[in-house]
Amino acid sequence: MSKDRLIIFDTTLRDGEQSPGASMTRDEKVRIARMLEKMRVDVIEAGFAIASPGDFEAVKAVAESVKDSTVASLARAVRPDIERAGEALRNANSGRIHTFIATSPIHMKYKLQMEPEKVLEQAVAAVKMARNLCDDVEFSLEDGSRSEPEFMYRIIEAVINAGARTINIPDTVGYGTPEEYGGMFRRVIESVPNSDKAIFSTHCHNDLGLAVANSLAAVMNGVRQVECTINGLGERAGNASLEELVMAVNTRHDFYPVTTGIDPVHIVPTSRLVSTVTGFPVQPNKAIVGANAFAHESGIHQDGVLKHRETYEIMKAEDVGWNANKLVLGKHSGRAAVRARFEELGITFETPEALNEAFARFKDLADKKHEIFDEDLQTLVSDVEQEHREEIYTFKGLEVSCKTGQKPRATLSFTRRGEAVVAESEGSGPVDAAFKAIESVVDSGTELALYSVNAITAGTEAQGDVTVRLSRNGSIVNGVGADTDIIAASAKAYLDALNLLESGSRAHPQRDGV
Ligand code: KIV
Ligand code: ZN
Repeated sequence: MSKDRLIIFDTTLRDGEQSPGASMTRDEKVRIARMLEKMRVDVIEAGFAIASPGDFEAVKAVAESVKDSTVASLARAVRPDIERAGEALRNANSGRIHTFIATSPIHMKYKLQMEPEKVLEQAVAAVKMARNLCDDVEFSLEDGSRSEPEFMYRIIEAVINAGARTINIPDTVGYGTPEEYGGMFRRVIESVPNSDKAIFSTHCHNDLGLAVANSLAAVMNGVRQVECTINGLGERAGNASLEELVMAVNTRHDFYPVTTGIDPVHIVPTSRLVSTVTGFPVQPNKAIVGANAFAHESGIHQDGVLKHRETYEIMKAEDVGWNANKLVLGKHSGRAAVRARFEELGITFETPEALNEAFARFKDLADKKHEIFDEDLQTLVSDVEQEHREEIYTFKGLEVSCKTGQKPRATLSFTRRGEAVVAESEGSGPVDAAFKAIESVVDSGTELALYSVNAITAGTEAQGDVTVRLSRNGSIVNGVGADTDIIAASAKAYLDALNLLESGSRAHPQRDGV
């Protein structure tokens, strides 16, 4: 059976970034984009160029560094957004403007406060405007799954005539069910007279846990592009997960009439990178990329797998990159090997000094930790970038005393705008004592919205990777810190979050209408 090609459109850097606290710096976006390119993702949505100067710079930087994938920027269906997207994509090898407007009665009436005819007119004008700047234009009908079919058919026909090559009908609020959402595409494709001139696309949110199922149902009904994110990151409950979609299509090639161009061996390393950068841990039982996804616990299963792997395994862990990043480097590894491994992870150094610094850090870590894994290298680079940002607070050292039956006490030294500070406090546990010590001096007025610790790699000598999410007056930031001592990692993460909050550079962007 000859198969159609399914286009994989990754929106980790745009919709994924819209998860509260998941904002990424320009350099982090470039690093993730390079991994996506290596994975052979067809389209990388790098951001929403008009949302902020930081978003613009990030889209531009991704457009300039990615060569093999198409790079897209989101834009509302208005001139300033479209022009900004066009400008950010100017140097892209292959760029796409992705413009959208809401088409459901509820969104048009209450959010846009526009009559449907005006929405149609604006959509057509936006697509024409975008086509003047870029050959590749995608149009999305926001809240499409709750839109009136007859209105959708008209608007889709009109935007295809205006030059849209891809028509995306999102399930924006995650309300759809597989049968209904799939059937909607079948009817759209049958009813729109020029539907053969465009590729139809899904964009599913996971509010009911149906994002992947809905996307696949759409594929069975003629859709040939799926929008998705690494680890299913995204607004609220997230988007359809790239790894689940790709592996469903690969594993059930007997059933799905499509193939993708993805090289799945990069899935796990990319998942780790996204998790490290955003500070969003991957749940252990998450399909494909969770730590337990391939771990057989029950004796019956283990016995079966040993006798004949396929008894309980439908995929091979190594095919999605589980073993690709096992033991990497150690204390005796040389500079060239370390640099080569960084490059394989999509990390390049602009100056010899930057490489020297990373290598010195690597040696320091190798002294404390016997084996260095890919995740350690990724964290190390994030730490270096973090320290190079203009910081108000810098961690210097920590002393903690804990004794059963006594309250733990932490003494923390850090600098504030270059001045040495020593802070002390008791707490209900050592981490609480360290945070209270910081607050006794800083008095930030923030709320601790999330605290999570992950072992970056296996074993007791592993580094602890801590995420601290702080919120203040509607701004949310995720600070991250890594150390073989988890109390120190926690204090570093807390200070990192305070720095982010003060600089405003990475506070979760407030975006109008998306
Ligand atoms: O969920 C949604 O509708 C979107 C569109 C802007 C594509 O993210
Ligand atoms: Zn979305």
